[in-house]
Amino acid sequence: MTEVAVFGYGTVGSGVVEVIEKNAEPIASRGEGLHVKYILDLRDFPGDPYADRVTHDADVIYGDPEIKVICETMGGATFAYDYTKRALSAGISVCTSNKELVELHGAELYRLAKENNCSYLFEASVGGGIPLIRTITQALTAERIERICGILNGTTNYILDRMEKAGLDFATALKEAQELGYAEKDPTADIDAHDPCRKIAILTSLVSGKKTDYSDIPMEGIRDISLNDLAYAWMLGGTVKLIAMSEFDKDGCRAIVSPRVIKRDNPLFAVNSVFNAVLIHSDMLDDSMYYGRGAGKLATASAVVGDAIECARNAGRTIECGWSEEKLVLADASGMKQSYLLRLKKSALPKLEERIAIEEKLEPTEEFLREHGLDPKDFADEMAVVSGEMSEKEWKEKIAGVDGVIRYIRM
Ligand code: HSE
Repeated sequence: MTEVAVFGYGTVGSGVVEVIEKNAEPIASRGEGLHVKYILDLRDFPGDPYADRVTHDADVIYGDPEIKVICETMGGATFAYDYTKRALSAGISVCTSNKELVELHGAELYRLAKENNCSYLFEASVGGGIPLIRTITQALTAERIERICGILNGTTNYILDRMEKAGLDFATALKEAQELGYAEKDPTADIDAHDPCRKIAILTSLVSGKKTDYSDIPMEGIRDISLNDLAYAWMLGGTVKLIAMSEFDKDGCRAIVSPRVIKRDNPLFAVNSVFNAVLIHSDMLDDSMYYGRGAGKLATASAVVGDAIECARNAGRTIECGWSEEKLVLADASGMKQSYLLRLKKSALPKLEERIAIEEKLEPTEEFLREHGLDPKDFADEMAVVSGEMSEKEWKEKIAGVDGVIRYIRM
């Protein structure tokens, strides 16, 4: 039996205890079993079945030589950082769901784990319960990964899905997501794309083996996405999703998080509601996709506990992930090639046609608008076009100075 401490008894932390207790039998059959000896939290939990294991004193835990694994589910990058360093320095393995800490200090914490013959695992930090980190660091190690393209934020996927399926505007869909507990009271991290940006930074780090700073990755959220944008995407047989992407080629790596038009033939089209999915293109395997619950108490806790089992199985050694502290210098994302869905005033079309080759023109018919419950007044004088593929740098040069451009969405 491996003795475990859980740091932080919030949603994920209590889920970790629940998974360990409820699935004690299958867990034990796959290793030597896990037992939660301590729960560290500032609060007391009277009436909780595990209240007797709660301590406010981390020293009790560090001073107990039986503790071999800590599940850190505190969140944040200050106390969690100090507690994790202290644990790893003492040779105690740490498993975490803390994407903020992993993105900021993951490479350093992994080095510390190696120096002390223990492990730092963070499967739950990206894509909740979907086994993505282990897929990249273990299953796909024979591959050259060329592209990662994913829906890594459940809240924004839910909002866009509700806009699409129920015709809600952004503000109403956000309010609904908040009422259901998907979106935070302050929804900035999700809707302005910080959250998926941290997650693609972690995945990019693991593919490149270098430290990728999320602040270097351009990001664009979904607060400006309107039903007009969606209407043109529907006319193309697609929809709009918030996509986190990184591409690796001879010029290095480019990464970006932004809304994109996703057509029906793309497997990400079918990823609805709060689900996440990541499509990985690699040179030998070709496309592979990983789908599941990217958030939620038990889904996320399951990934933390899976890591704890791995740590127990590998006691006294480090589970490798090949992540160095060398900074990854990203190539300019404006070099990424794609086509664009551009909304414009009809009066801007002649000027635009002088500048770019237009592949498709889109003007919704009255029947289309009626079928989708859209107000023709919102579409008066406007249309959309689809461009050919070009880099964003070239695209921006082409549309610069064209009066009547409303907005564009990458495809
Ligand atoms: N806010 C995140 C999401 C939670 O909506 O996906 C999981 O990281």
